[in-house]
Amino acid sequence: MKQTPLQKRGIAADRIVLGCMGLGGTWDNSPETNEQVLEAERAIDAALESGIRMFDHADIYKMGKAEIVFGQALKNRPYIREQLVIQSKCGIRFAEGEMPGRYDFSKEHILSSVDGILSRLGMEYLDILLLHRPDPLMEPEEVAEAFAKLKESGKVRHFGVSNMNASQIKLLQHYLPDPLVVNQLQMNLHHIGWLEEGVLVNQQAGTSFSFPESLLAHCQLENIQIQAWAPLAGGLYSGRELSGQPESVLQTKKLVHRMAAEKETSAEAIVLGWLMRHPAMIQPVIGTTKPERIRSSVDAIRIAEQMTREEWYSLYVASRGRKMP
Ligand SMILES: NC(=O)c1ccc[n+]([C@@H]2O[C@H](COP(=O)([O-])OP(=O)(O)OC[C@H]3O[C@@H](n4cnc5c(N)ncnc54)[C@H](OP(=O)(O)O)[C@@H]3O)[C@@H](O)[C@H]2O)c1
Repeated sequence: MKQTPLQKRGIAADRIVLGCMGLGGTWDNSPETNEQVLEAERAIDAALESGIRMFDHADIYKMGKAEIVFGQALKNRPYIREQLVIQSKCGIRFAEGEMPGRYDFSKEHILSSVDGILSRLGMEYLDILLLHRPDPLMEPEEVAEAFAKLKESGKVRHFGVSNMNASQIKLLQHYLPDPLVVNQLQMNLHHIGWLEEGVLVNQQAGTSFSFPESLLAHCQLENIQIQAWAPLAGGLYSGRELSGQPESVLQTKKLVHRMAAEKETSAEAIVLGWLMRHPAMIQPVIGTTKPERIRSSVDAIRIAEQMTREEWYSLYVASRGRKMP
């Protein structure tokens, strides 16, 4: 079977990642609860039973509570750390008093963030650390110093980025001895700028998409794993109640359900399989906390392998709401 960019680097990463932003209750400083730990246990169990051993976090998710409940859930489960691939992110800071919400890639902040992440997760190391969103004040030499220290101390094994364009990645990479291994971006069957940017080359309509030009090709050339956040489009095509949606969404949802019935699979597997059919070997980071949705997502691996060009284009064209140019 074709390997993903992470697998080519010897990182035991699965085709699908469980995103943990939904764990830990509410976005506030209320203490975590036993029920939230149980919810994390159920999600982790469903993931591992389905063959997903890779988990995505960020220091900010639920103000740190997502990592806390995940760490506590693992304590109650004797999983061997080496069998899991754990990734987290840093670089976003919330507003505090007079200080605005901001991004911070300073060495001091990166180092202290990783200490906080490891302590909340109850772990000795992270497999991958991502910089969450580009900081306009980034000093690449300073980031390189922080990464070197984290690698030397054994706290982080690999580094990556999120929401960055190709030039930002090239700039940072210039100062790093090790390759950036991941770029995590919003990509799904609804948010299709990542395809439109390439399909509408030299057309006015192609300039109106927010996906950075040539980023997909850059990541493919440099063997950078593209991870898709919001890959289920929040359930838009797979079951969430809809009202006031455009005709293209309704038609796409209908097609997703028809294909799911024909292929005897779930709507989630069609939506994710469509993303994974792309030759970049995109890794969806699924954000559901529901064990049944986690289980029904993994059939996407089979669906991606079997999806024909015609089926893939039918879904793409339905989502575009107009034929290919
Ligand atoms: N790098 C970044 O900047 C960034 C930004 C956002 C997220 N992320 C990562 O990406 C992961 C996924 O992102 P996401 O959670 O925004 O997107 P997602 O996977 O597209 O959607 C998951 C959300 O949609 C809901 N959902 C899914 N199917 C549904 C259905 N049929 N009916 C009702 N609700 C449904 C889920 O609720 P249930 O839990 O009830 O299933 C959950 O709240 C996150 O966990 C996080 O790890 C990264």
